[in-house]
Amino acid sequence: MAPLGSSPAPSLHARVPFHPPRREQDDTPLSVEGELPSWLHGDLVRTCPALFEKGPWRARHLFDGLGMLYAFTVADGTVRYRNRMLRGQQWARIEAGRGWHASWADGPQRSWLRRIVQPLPPSTDNANVNVCRVGDDYVAMTETPHQLRFDPRTLQTLGPKRYEDELGPGVGMIAHPHLDRRDRSLVSVATEMGARSSLILYRVGPDGRRREVVARREFTELPYVHDFGLTQDHALLILHPWRVRPPSMLWSQRGIVDHFHWDAERPTAIAVIDRRNGSWREVEVPGDPFFVFHVANAFARPDGELVLDLLAYPDPGVVEALRIDALLAHFSPAAQLERVRIAADGTSCTRERLVDSPFEFPTIDYRRRSGRPYRYCWGAQDEGGERWLGEVLKVDTHHGEVTRYQRPGWNLGEPLFVPRDRSDERDDAEDDGVLLTVASDLVNDRAELVVLDARTLEPRATAAVDDAIPIGFHGQFFSR
Ligand SMILES: [Fe+2]
Repeated sequence: MAPLGSSPAPSLHARVPFHPPRREQDDTPLSVEGELPSWLHGDLVRTCPALFEKGPWRARHLFDGLGMLYAFTVADGTVRYRNRMLRGQQWARIEAGRGWHASWADGPQRSWLRRIVQPLPPSTDNANVNVCRVGDDYVAMTETPHQLRFDPRTLQTLGPKRYEDELGPGVGMIAHPHLDRRDRSLVSVATEMGARSSLILYRVGPDGRRREVVARREFTELPYVHDFGLTQDHALLILHPWRVRPPSMLWSQRGIVDHFHWDAERPTAIAVIDRRNGSWREVEVPGDPFFVFHVANAFARPDGELVLDLLAYPDPGVVEALRIDALLAHFSPAAQLERVRIAADGTSCTRERLVDSPFEFPTIDYRRRSGRPYRYCWGAQDEGGERWLGEVLKVDTHHGEVTRYQRPGWNLGEPLFVPRDRSDERDDAEDDGVLLTVASDLVNDRAELVVLDARTLEPRATAAVDDAIPIGFHGQFFSR
């Protein structure tokens, strides 16, 4: 068990949901209250920003906190916990006081000579956004060209994930790949910046080695892409007007985010990419532009209409709200679940709100419903300020009903759905399972794995961790 360091107040470290944990744990048995489902076996692995200051370095944005992996192993009614800092290059540089690479809101540290010989600064490998399996590798992801492999049993960082392909090492990858269950391939989006700036839809075969280009389109101003929708035949990318002119990043000393600008005069468009032939067309969404981090689901109707359900913000103000200075004051994102429908011939597009309850971190019965018609979406909403209220929601997208589980004084993270019987494809089995969410106490350095009945949101069991788990983003449940 190694200490993770400390830093002087006032800082984000003085606020409990952002405390770095006191120690790294290897395989700690947790006390469980309630009853875990006997069928629940596997590892919930998550990543989060956990360290915001070290020596001269201060993160300026939540997204730049140095990443930590943590995991709960659930088996035979017991839970064990472990956590480990991600030890990549960015971590090593900051630990050793050797400066840092460019990240979301932190500019790179480099000499004027290095700026001249390397106009586009090296970017961070601080993979604190999400985790997934690529072939035999477990990887932690951020939104730069770098992904880090880790050992799922020990959470030790194993080194960079390398692909043997023509895309090259300088192409950024989003942290929300989709799994195509038909052939076990991953489908995702890459961003190429430089003399040629493009968005690239790519796939990685089951062996996890090569990124194959499915479609590519050049942009003068690249839109920020965080997530996308995938159906059997199409990929749907949200092209909102939060864009960057890549040449502005050359020789820059600013953070990545500081090169993006919002053009409220431009519409948000959807890129409809045919996965079968790589063709790319774009359709404008009527009304005011909107900003999106996360997609809930996408599917095609029998008549060919494409449906894209997403969490829409009126603008990218949420990005500013997650800067450290803003987080110290208040935090309350408000994205709304909306449905964009694109006619089969691509000539028309509509947009409607599905429910009037803001939330984030949309989760569905991914294994059985991703890319297909679905009914239920779960998510989390945390209201900061005077009275922090952590909430997990269940939305019935057919009838607009909302069910809630509330926990005043705790932050509730992204809920992940685990089906009781994954082979049960009947409609009424869609919410038959549990939600796994991590609750962080807002006052004390403690956290809990919370297991909720996915149908009713009644708590079934909790497993207590006697240390802080900072607020984080995404994770995966790897079934045994
Ligand atoms: Fe995300």
